Amino acid sequence: MSLLSIKDLKVSLPVDKERRVVLRGIDLELEAGESVAIVGESGSGKSMTARAIARLLPRRAVVSGSILFDGRQVLDLKDAALRRFQAAEMAMIFQDPRVHLNPVRTIGDFLVEGLVNTRGSSKKAAEHKVIELLDEVGIPDGTRRLRQYPHELSGGLLQRVMIAAALASEPRLLLADEPSTALDVSTQSDVMAIIDDLCKSRGMALMFITHDLELAAAICDRTAVMYAGQIVEVQGSTDLVEHPRHPYSAGLLGAKPNVSRRVQRLNAIPGRPRAAFEVQNGCAFSDRCRFASEECIASEPTLKHEPGGAVRCFRADDLILNATEGAVL
Ligand SMILES: Nc1ncnc2c1ncn2[C@@H]1O[C@H](COP(=O)(O)OP(=O)(O)OP(=O)(O)O)[C@@H](O)[C@H]1O
Ligand SMILES: [Mg+2]
Repeated sequence: MSLLSIKDLKVSLPVDKERRVVLRGIDLELEAGESVAIVGESGSGKSMTARAIARLLPRRAVVSGSILFDGRQVLDLKDAALRRFQAAEMAMIFQDPRVHLNPVRTIGDFLVEGLVNTRGSSKKAAEHKVIELLDEVGIPDGTRRLRQYPHELSGGLLQRVMIAAALASEPRLLLADEPSTALDVSTQSDVMAIIDDLCKSRGMALMFITHDLELAAAICDRTAVMYAGQIVEVQGSTDLVEHPRHPYSAGLLGAKPNVSRRVQRLNAIPGRPRAAFEVQNGCAFSDRCRFASEECIASEPTLKHEPGGAVRCFRADDLILNATEGAVL
């Protein structure tokens, strides 16, 4: 049984007096200890997917489908069971740690209180544990750091503090929503290396949200590509980067500048991304796809499972896609 099994997850949110669809049916499995990356352009629904799993969607969100965590229906969890799930079974790290830290409380208050509340540890035992955790995320002088306030720490250190907080409860699933995007490049790779190491050493499953397909491949076993509120392709990360099956994935790969490539051309995907609520008939990507046929414009493809993954494209079998040059027939 998978640790996480998402089936036909749909989410809509209230906007003015209407309901806006943001997820149009997500299907995804994650095994214990496995890592999956979620990539896609801005607005494709990556954060909403993670928030739905963590039960942190905006109020008045309407959710349907199924999210099983270790066989239990996350969407039905209430009160104490929901709090236990959120505090002890999964943890989430966000792009900007400052939003989640109270500026007038010390790092120690934040971390120690978390442990006292979730584990019922004594304050002294919690402090000891927190200093160990800080050491694990590469902050050796924990005793001093505990007395500091968020504004005294750099973004990279604060993100490590958030990782330490996430680990404190020994969750089985870590949801990391662009945890390094706001950091400078070298801090980014340090933070990702810490997350990667900790997930592997603790056997923690990871859902890593990013815009960066190559970073996704460096960190995660599998990569899922999202477009307009759906997954359009999922594959082993290396296979996806080398042999993308969906024209959108190939486009994303082609759009990334890469100093190691001889051709220094940025193959930006023409047009702008569709929002989930704008999608009408047909494949959501068809208006930007060089390969769209009449069928693609008339009806919507389903996510078809194939060995090693799944793809949502009528033409997947007739196309040979080349990531370096964008897409070629
Ligand atoms: N509170 C909200 N109310 C209504 N719509 C929202 C709300 N938050 C996000 N959306 C919409 O939901 C869609 C999916 O948003 P989501 O934040 O999941 O995108 P994302 O893939 O994480 O993008 P990014 O890469 O920019 O973080 C977008 O079209 C967005 O405009
Ligand atoms: Mg997001």
